Amino acid sequence: MAEDFDVKFTDRHYTPDPSYRQNSWLGDYQKAYEEFTRDPDAFWDRIASELHWFTPYTQVKEWNFPYARWFLNGKTNITYNCLDRHVLNARRNKVALIWRGEDDTERIYTYRQLFREVMRVANGLKNLGVTKGDRVCIYMPMVPEQIISMLACARIGAVHSVVFGGFGAAALNSRITGAAAKVVITADVTFRRGKSIPLKHIIEEAIINAPSVEHVVVLRRETNQPVEIHREMEVDFYEMIRDVQPECEPEIMDAEDPLFILYTSGSTGAPKGIVHTCGGYMVGTYYTTKNVFDIKDNDVYWCTADPGWITGHSYVVYGPLAMGATIVLTESTPDFPDPGVYWRMVEEFGVTILYTAPTAIRMFMKLGEQWPNKYNLSTLRILGSVGEPLNPEAFEWYYHVIGKDKVPILDTWWQTETGMHMITTMLGEPMYPGFAGKAIPGVVADVVDKDGNPVPPGTGGFLAIREPWPSMLRTVYNDDERYRKYWNTIPGCYAVGDLAVKNKAGCIMVLGRSDDLIVVAGHNIGTAEVESALVSHKAVAEAAVIGKPDVVKGNIIKAFVILRVDHTPSDKLKNELLYHVRITLGPIAMPSEIEFVASLPKTRSGKIMRRVLKAKEMGMDPGDISTLDE
Ligand code: WT7
Repeated sequence: MAEDFDVKFTDRHYTPDPSYRQNSWLGDYQKAYEEFTRDPDAFWDRIASELHWFTPYTQVKEWNFPYARWFLNGKTNITYNCLDRHVLNARRNKVALIWRGEDDTERIYTYRQLFREVMRVANGLKNLGVTKGDRVCIYMPMVPEQIISMLACARIGAVHSVVFGGFGAAALNSRITGAAAKVVITADVTFRRGKSIPLKHIIEEAIINAPSVEHVVVLRRETNQPVEIHREMEVDFYEMIRDVQPECEPEIMDAEDPLFILYTSGSTGAPKGIVHTCGGYMVGTYYTTKNVFDIKDNDVYWCTADPGWITGHSYVVYGPLAMGATIVLTESTPDFPDPGVYWRMVEEFGVTILYTAPTAIRMFMKLGEQWPNKYNLSTLRILGSVGEPLNPEAFEWYYHVIGKDKVPILDTWWQTETGMHMITTMLGEPMYPGFAGKAIPGVVADVVDKDGNPVPPGTGGFLAIREPWPSMLRTVYNDDERYRKYWNTIPGCYAVGDLAVKNKAGCIMVLGRSDDLIVVAGHNIGTAEVESALVSHKAVAEAAVIGKPDVVKGNIIKAFVILRVDHTPSDKLKNELLYHVRITLGPIAMPSEIEFVASLPKTRSGKIMRRVLKAKEMGMDPGDISTLDE
């Protein structure tokens, strides 16, 4: 059973210097949490009123289980809060964005410059016929134009759907058609480990059967051999904005108008288009950026996530810009040209807040202390982690080697669906390695059994959220049934899909997924999506995919494949299948191991029992196999 098991852990913990709490925006965690509990609406009202609304909301929330609306009748535009507000006030010439390319090229935008670029791209998109409510797909590398494109969409009320650059043509096609995107914004190449990797041909393939697409905007970066622009459909990014008006008024958005769609893997083959709204998402990301990261005006904040994931949406782009922060963005991978590149950037830019992923931390651990030790990391005052459990060993390494035993670590638990941080150890609170922490003020979280009853400390259960929060997903695009499922699984709760356990102090340790998702290097991959990619190859009759623990990536993907009768196993065929997955889903979904098998364990009703495969693979007891068909 998924629930009802005992988990052993110690209660060793670290307590940060009291100055962290004293100087923080939040102050005392307990007090803040009590303020929220006393009057949740008043709590969120106080936060939302720090932002600009063209027309004030008339009601904080309306909760009609399982549907919530927030900041009713309020009118705003998130870009007004991320840009105009700062340009009109004291941050006009403050650095908004420091970008560094792989070859050390730098581009720096002040708030005024970023604002100007966003308005020009917004006008360019308008000229292409994009209007409020239209969907725009953004498939770009980590360059300033990626962020600018997102903000330009938000400026004119277009709904962006950013697709991570590591996805392949079929995955991209299903996301473009799923949202019926009118325009796709892309680049010719992405630079990775000293090489340029073409992107545009992936778009060309992805839009073949995507009738909604009217234009493809191409950012041309390769100067030696510029790619050709196919004028019937394509537009050059900078040509698009060459002759546009410099100013673009923000579209007046209702708080509940959609801001973006972001696809995330689901436990069925089709990815889910998570829908976030203008008002609630803005308040949630602003609140958490301010109070969890405690960003101050002189901070240099670096979240290493790609804006193509929710972490990038909330904590590279919207939250930090709403706070008027200086953000860092790089196209560099953490190990090129050498494993010191991130630490060199921390030193050179004077990064004060670093937010990264356990898989990166574990990779740095493996490569050794000599790399971070070469650089001056003394500017760092807060370290963050997100994406999967930060295991105690990785916590210790991060704390000692990077944080020099004095920088608090925020292990933040949240999801694409939650939009904002939900569980962490707020600044000043004791940090238990391996435990994310407690619900932040504004969130009600618990570890429960399948009926929604809390389980005692030390007993495993399902992680669940009890009350609505402003930046919660409002629906799954074109699939509200799947939205309701989040709230139908555990009575009265939003079912997160993670297993967790609490310690006596009430801190939550997240143990992993309870469903058919595999978290690989912090990326959620649906087993069904990989299986259907494999089965779409002509040699494959059936496939089953499991996650296998890996010290750096958390998990790797292993595929078991049954071939059709006229095919025989070979290394060549293995490579062909890997290539096939790379082309359809993209490199992030590629199995690390493929094993050809004659049969797969199934229930009598024909469902593949991945649990049994996994137990066998790991040499463990498969548990209850009474439903297994012999
Ligand atoms: C799933 C959500 C939220 C941004 C990145 C992933 C896992 C996320 C943690 C953490 C343990 C974590 C969970 C969650 N996860 N953060 N701090 N500790 N697990 O977003 O792709 O929507 O994935 O990632 O399993 O449900 P996502």
